[in-house]
Amino acid sequence: MTNADLEKIVDTSDEWIASRTGIRERRVANGMVTSDMAVIAATSALEMADTDRDEIEMLILATVTPDYRLPSAACVVQEKMELNNAGAFDVVAACTGFINALSIASSFIENGNIKKALVIGVEKLSTFTNYKDRNTCVLFGDGAGAVVVSAEEGDRGIINSFIKSDGRYRKLLWSEVGGAANPYSESFDFNGNDKIMMNGSDIFKIAVKEMSNATLKVIEDAGLTVDDIAIVVPHQANIRIIEALAKRIKISMDKVFLNIAKYGNTSAASVPLALDEANREGRIKDGDYVVMVAFGGGLIWGATLVKW
Ligand code: UT7
Repeated sequence: MTNADLEKIVDTSDEWIASRTGIRERRVANGMVTSDMAVIAATSALEMADTDRDEIEMLILATVTPDYRLPSAACVVQEKMELNNAGAFDVVAACTGFINALSIASSFIENGNIKKALVIGVEKLSTFTNYKDRNTCVLFGDGAGAVVVSAEEGDRGIINSFIKSDGRYRKLLWSEVGGAANPYSESFDFNGNDKIMMNGSDIFKIAVKEMSNATLKVIEDAGLTVDDIAIVVPHQANIRIIEALAKRIKISMDKVFLNIAKYGNTSAASVPLALDEANREGRIKDGDYVVMVAFGGGLIWGATLVKW
């Protein structure tokens, strides 16, 4: 769905969307549900990592748009992929979900509980987007990304992670209807509050500050400096947020990966999509220090430092 397509639906313009957000297109997964996208990404990840499905002992899927309220999307994916040796569960942490899921997988591996985990970030936000609200509908898209995390000798891997949230900001990015507090009822006039609702400008300021702090924390906790980092792979929410983050932590934009123009904000899928494209484009070399950083509804934010 291009900006021109959106111009036909709401009072907006390509110029406004591109200049305020950096987004030119976003993907809409028609005819597919969340688990279908997850299976495509996860199958590809298993192939790239030369991993057999029976080796996967844990499947962690980050999403706020599961196929069903019950069971988890992870269990649906487990069935579809026949990952019969895994323990599967979802992580609900909005756009930071992939960072949370990765750090859980890493902890289980470091503790010696498991040897291989499959971590998926996936969203079908189009089911959840209010296409009457120009403040939000221009931002969001659908997508999926996945990685295999494996036990390995040596100093490569996930070095550390940081996760923080502040529930006092929960009404900056939320959806009011459909949970236990306000279950769906046929007589209720939803008026869009069953979709994503957002206060963008307040989130913007908090996102810049907290993504910067989280990035610096994982770098400093590892005894490194920003100069040691080869690439930052940030959550793709708004190019101006990413540029402000780069300025604040004093890293050149050449070392910050961007693909927001093609996908918009895909929430939990955003970081793994960007990581995969950075890798395929040869932007990450063996031994490089990579920081992934995200923030999202909760509000929640976090970062992970990896030695590739
Ligand atoms: O994963 C986390 C998800 N959330 C986010 O990342 C949100 C972070 N925030 C943002 O990215 C930005 O705040 C937005 C892109 C959402 C908005 O940009 P902004 O520079 O903060 O604009 P604004 O909200 O201050 O609105 C400026 C004007 C308003 O008009 P008035 O009141 O000045 O007349 C809006 O009504 O722009 C208007 N506007 C639009 N105009 C054309 C808002 N959306 C649109 C639109 N097209 N799509």
